[in-house]
Amino acid sequence: MIYPLPAVMVSCGENEKEYNIITIAWTGTISSNPPMCYISVRPQRHSYEIIKRTGEFVINLTTFDLARATDWCGVRSGKKYNKFKEMHLTPVKAEYVSAPLIKESPINIECKVTEIKPLGVHHMFMANVLAIHGDEEYMDKETGAFQFEKAKPLCYSHGKYYEVGKFIGKFGFSVMKKKKI
Ligand SMILES: Cc1cc2nc3c(=O)[nH]c(=O)nc-3n(C[C@H](O)[C@H](O)[C@H](O)COP(=O)(O)O)c2cc1C
Repeated sequence: MIYPLPAVMVSCGENEKEYNIITIAWTGTISSNPPMCYISVRPQRHSYEIIKRTGEFVINLTTFDLARATDWCGVRSGKKYNKFKEMHLTPVKAEYVSAPLIKESPINIECKVTEIKPLGVHHMFMANVLAIHGDEEYMDKETGAFQFEKAKPLCYSHGKYYEVGKFIGKFGFSVMKKKKI
């Protein structure tokens, strides 16, 4: 019951015939330097074997507009469906990995697996981050920062999807001195 979680679309596959998307909530950052992420996947998923064999995947962050596709890719299997076609998503060639980026996602993170930890029902894929692609549409022209709110990120908690809520404060706001007017 750790909340909220991202619900990301993880793309995988070596060639167009094999390309697949799996929705993953068990994901996160595990190191800043070197930059590393993880995803935890059940071995019975169609994507599991693909990611294990290729050692590569892409984490595609999701938005309000991608909510339906995110859910669909998490309840249908690539064993039966071509999820890119069914959800009208566009695979784009990545820079370093064979797995495709999803064009419609605002942030794509290229990952190379370093270790697979069989933990229990989920196996954890630890990975180095090789590249991050941000959609220009959401980048602040002056600062180059990703405009989080503009992208309307999707959150997930206990079987339900949510939009991100109100801005509360900046990192360290609790100890910052108030500006005198
Ligand atoms: C919101 C959401 C989060 C999910 N998180 C995970 C996860 O972290 N790990 C996992 O193995 N499956 C997770 N699933 C289930 C898979 O996405 C689902 O079984 C999918 O159909 C597998 O696709 P595949 O067989 O094409 O690989 C999640 C599903 C949803 C809807």
